[in-house]
Amino acid sequence: MNATCAIAGLLLAAIALGHGSALGHGSGIISGKNGDPRNLTTAYPSCGNCHNSFPNFNVVVGIDGATSVAPGSAVAMRVTVDGANLTSTRGGFTMEASAGAFVAGTTTRTDTTNAGRAAITHVNSLQRDWTFSWTAPTTPGLVQIFATANAANGDGRNSGDAWGWFGPMSNVPGTPHRIFVNGPQVTSTGEGCAGTDGFRPLLGMANAPTVGTSYVAQTHNLPANGVSVSILGLSNTAFGTLPLPLPLQGLGGGSCVLRVSIDLTQVAIASGAGSGTGVANATWAIPAVTSLRGLALHHQTMTVDAGANSLGLSFSNALSTTVQ
Ligand code: HEC
Repeated sequence: MNATCAIAGLLLAAIALGHGSALGHGSGIISGKNGDPRNLTTAYPSCGNCHNSFPNFNVVVGIDGATSVAPGSAVAMRVTVDGANLTSTRGGFTMEASAGAFVAGTTTRTDTTNAGRAAITHVNSLQRDWTFSWTAPTTPGLVQIFATANAANGDGRNSGDAWGWFGPMSNVPGTPHRIFVNGPQVTSTGEGCAGTDGFRPLLGMANAPTVGTSYVAQTHNLPANGVSVSILGLSNTAFGTLPLPLPLQGLGGGSCVLRVSIDLTQVAIASGAGSGTGVANATWAIPAVTSLRGLALHHQTMTVDAGANSLGLSFSNALSTTVQ
């Protein structure tokens, strides 16, 4: 062994020991702390800095919870890891949010000193399923949450474990779980139904419609360059003779549900590059007619997506609001 190699070996041992002894991975991992690299949730080498160098493509990291939410609201969240080391039930995760704050459950702990980013991790390696909550910021807009998790083999060491990133491909870093914080006076109903690669179209609105101004209905999680139809409906209980919400399973629409009457539509082409990165914005204008105040408006986005179901369409959650 030459000198450089020996030093590199010592350094590696020091990092592993420092981490294992000072904070033991039993009690979680936060980016940039205790010798762990920054950007654990978004880039290589992530957990591979000390565990298997490469992520395991069988690992499935799940994040459940409401995605189109009110400002300042408490959002129940659940993270799971599965798909590898199936005879063990041990695991760990780390997660970061671009805004808002995590509130730990009994099996998690938070960290807010992490360069201003809200972070949360496990407190012991006994679970593969964690529940806690996240408080939405009061400023409306898109929030991105990133996560990495480890389906450990339970030997209490950093070998033989299997880790991966959140997203349809666990070996690709940087796929966010997107949450839209809507403006006040905007309420969301239902969740989008899955399109290509499992991405569920997410509709959000940072401002309520106001007389004499325009507002934007933004849809995220779309196929890049996909064709979307932004729907404005005056009802969420009936579309002509059809009662709403209308499940589309009978038409081959899988779990998709039409929730608003199709009264006005606008085609919006999504931007983006890469699965689920598409964003389609539709700008709607409210005439300067004060008698429109109080009129209820409902929105939903329908997207052409052959990978969604045999109907070839995916649908977002629906938003309801009134003209201000
Ligand atoms: C700085 C090195 C380092 C990094 C980076 C690292 N780990 Fe670890 N991890 C260790 C060491 C050392 C052990 C064994 C000792 C221990 O349990 O603390 C370990 C053990 C674990 C265990 C328990 C394993 C078992 O078989 O019971 C889990 C779970 C875990 N790590 C999760 C993670 C996750 C998730 C990441 C990425 C977000 C990560 N680790 C990144 C060093 C690291």
